[in-house]
Amino acid sequence: NVKGAEKLKKKSSFSGQIGFVLAAAGSAVGVGNLWRFPYLVARDGGGLFLIIYLVLVLTFGFTLLTTDISIGRKTGQSAIRAYESMRPGWKKLGFLTFMVPVLIMTYYAVIGGWILKYFIVFLTGASGDAAKDSYFTSFITNTSSVWFGLIFMLVTALIVYNGVEGGIERCSKFIMPVLLIMVVCIAIFSLTLKSKGADGVVRTGLDGLKVYIIPDVSGLTVSRFLQVTLDAMSQLFFSLSVSMGIMITYGSYVKKDVDLNKSVAQIEVVDTVVAFLAGVMIIPAIYVFSGMDGMSAGPSLMFVALPKTFYAMGTAGRVIGLVFFLLAAFAALTSCISVLESITANCMEIFHTGRKKTTLVLGVIYLAATAVIALGYSLFYLEIPLPNGTTGQLLDIMDYISNSFLMPFITIFSTILVGWLVKPQWIIEEMEHPNGKFSRKQLYIVMIKFVMPVIMVILFLQSTGLLDR
Ligand code: PFF
Repeated sequence: NVKGAEKLKKKSSFSGQIGFVLAAAGSAVGVGNLWRFPYLVARDGGGLFLIIYLVLVLTFGFTLLTTDISIGRKTGQSAIRAYESMRPGWKKLGFLTFMVPVLIMTYYAVIGGWILKYFIVFLTGASGDAAKDSYFTSFITNTSSVWFGLIFMLVTALIVYNGVEGGIERCSKFIMPVLLIMVVCIAIFSLTLKSKGADGVVRTGLDGLKVYIIPDVSGLTVSRFLQVTLDAMSQLFFSLSVSMGIMITYGSYVKKDVDLNKSVAQIEVVDTVVAFLAGVMIIPAIYVFSGMDGMSAGPSLMFVALPKTFYAMGTAGRVIGLVFFLLAAFAALTSCISVLESITANCMEIFHTGRKKTTLVLGVIYLAATAVIALGYSLFYLEIPLPNGTTGQLLDIMDYISNSFLMPFITIFSTILVGWLVKPQWIIEEMEHPNGKFSRKQLYIVMIKFVMPVIMVILFLQSTGLLDR
C-alpha cells in the first residue's frame, strides 16, 4: 500500500558500513563484556572458558547475528512486523521477541545508574569509601540511589529521541573508539602491576595473565564441561544482543549496498576483543592485589572486588578506577540506547506514531519502571524464589525472565522458522546481496537447521532448572 511504501521510503538509516558496525558493536559491547565475561572466566577455569567461548562465537554467535541482521534488512521492519511478514502466523514470536527488550529496559538503566554513581565517587576522590565491604549494599538499599538510574534513563531517551543517524550513530561513533582506546590502555597497565600480598608472595600482572588464559582442566568432569559450555552460551547471547530483536531493528536501518558478511564479522570481532581485553584489565589486577580469593568474587566483581583492587593500587588506582567507570558507563549507555531503540521502533511500526512522540511516552513509562526496579532493594524489597533454585529481587526477576527464559525459548522457535519454514536460502540471498560471497554459507545451513534447535532446547531446559529435576 502507498502509505506503507511512503513510510518505508522515509525510514531512517545508518549512513554506511562504519556507522552501522559501530552502533551494533555499541549495543553488543556493554556490561556483559566488562563485568559478566571476566567473572565467568575467573569462575569457569580461565582459558577453558575462553576456548569454548571462541568456538561458540564463530558458530552460534555468527549464526544468530547473521539471522537477526538479515531478517531486519530484508523485511525493513522490527521484530513484530518482521516475523509477521515472514509468516503471518508467527507474529506471536515477534511479540515475544519484543518482550525481551521491554523487560531488559526496566533494569538496564538501573545498572547504568550504579556505574554512574561509582564514576562520580571516583571523580570526587571518595574511592576509599567504595572499597569498603558494605558500600555497595548500603548504596543500593538506600532509596536515593534511584536518582542515578533516572539520570541514566533520561540521557538514553534523549539520544533515541534524536533519531538513528543524528542520535544513535553520532553517539556510537564518538563513544566506541574512545572506549576501545581506554580498554587497551588499562589492559596494558594491568599487565605491569606487581605487589607483595599479605602472605608475603610477590604477584605480577603477567602471572595473572597466565591464570586468565591457561586452561585449568584439573578435575574436569563431563558435567562440569557441560556447565561451562552452557555458561559460555548464555553469555554469548547476552553479549551479542541477539535473539531479542535488537539486531533486527538495527539491521532494518542498514542500506542495501552494505556488505553484511563483513559487518557480521566485524561485530563479532569487536565484541569478543573487548570482552577478552576486559579480562586482561580486570583479572591480573584482581590477582595481584587479592590473589586467587579475589577471583571467585562472582557477580559482585564490578562493584565490590574491583573498587577494592583500585584502592589497593593507591593513587594510580584512583585514576584507573575513574577511567574504568567512565568507559563502563559509555559501554552501558550505547547498549541501553539499543534496547530503547528496539522498543521505540516496534511501537512506531505498530501504532504508526512518530519518533518524538513515541520516545516521549516510552521515556515516561521507563522512568517510572527504572524507579520501581531500583527501589526493589529498599522500598519494594522482595525475595522471590526463581525456578533455577536461586532467589532474587525485582531486577533479578526481570533478568531471569528475559535472559534465562525468553531468549533461549525464542531462539528455539526462530531457528525452526528460519531453518525449516522460510528456509536458510531466504537469509543467504540477503547475505550475498549485492556484494560478494557469503563465505560461511555451509556452516550457516548446518547450524540453523540442525545444531541450534537441539542445543537451544538443552540450554532452555538447563536455565529453567528442568534439566536437574
Ligand atoms: N550486549 C550487552 C552487553 O554485553 O552488555 C547487553 C545487552 C544489550 C543486553 C542490549 C541486552 C540488550 F537488549
